[in-house]
Amino acid sequence: MVPAINKTEAPGKVASTWTGSAREQAVQRMFTAIARFYDLNNSLLSFGLHHSWKRKAVSHIPAKPGTRALDLGAGTCDLAILLDTHLGRSGQVMAADLNEAMLRVGQQKVRGNHLAARISCLQMNAEHLTFPDQSFETVTAGFCVRNVGNLSQALSEICRVLKPGGRFVCLEFSRPVSPGFRKLYDWYSFRLLPWIGTVVARDGTGVYEYLPASIRNFPDQERFCRLLKEAGFQSVEYHNLTGGIVAIHVAVK
Ligand SMILES: C[S@@+](CC[C@H](N)C(=O)[O-])C[C@H]1O[C@@H](n2cnc3c(N)ncnc32)[C@H](O)[C@@H]1O
Repeated sequence: MVPAINKTEAPGKVASTWTGSAREQAVQRMFTAIARFYDLNNSLLSFGLHHSWKRKAVSHIPAKPGTRALDLGAGTCDLAILLDTHLGRSGQVMAADLNEAMLRVGQQKVRGNHLAARISCLQMNAEHLTFPDQSFETVTAGFCVRNVGNLSQALSEICRVLKPGGRFVCLEFSRPVSPGFRKLYDWYSFRLLPWIGTVVARDGTGVYEYLPASIRNFPDQERFCRLLKEAGFQSVEYHNLTGGIVAIHVAVK
């Protein structure tokens, strides 16, 4: 069952457990297995770039007083914490994720930064958001939407919970622009990465194969713009980062 938002719940608590379809369960198993090492792996595999990508994503959000923001697929809460700093004391941030283990690591980080009273952690599926219509000025998603089972449904849900004029800022792997760079990137993703996974990390989760495959299967910059418009967003733009390895899509309801 989708966990409902409990208004009396203490901020910073993981709300409940989650079960679902076969794909969802596979994604769940993988993130549960890697949660403890996620931040370290993220920094190693992106050569630390994910920090600047996340800062850049947050810079696309207007820091208006009283902004209510939802970070979807919040995982270990990097973006949620950056959002909190960006929005200031009058802002309110909710960090939602499907996976309890990832959210627990995020929750620890939130507590470590003394933000437990300001950032609420909730277990929730992006495909079935339990928030009422028009709840947020901003929704962010960092490297999340690539993992959801039904992308169109998740985008419609994001649009639904945004207020008119609200912004969805989506940070996601995309398609490198230059053909030469794309070749190099493909070699890194499909050859070097799985080798690192097997030989160096002795990974048993399959994440090092899943990562490049999920990136390749995800819509490129232009196609993702079309999907956002189909989901109900009116104005959509994107900004490539690191040659298009990553793109930030900004979609306004
Ligand atoms: C690659 S991690 C990104 C974590 C964090 N946003 C970051 O940028 O470091 C993807 C996250 O999306 C979550 N996720 C996957 N499918 C989801 C869904 N359907 N609904 C909500 N979260 C989901 C995973 O549990 C995982 O924590």
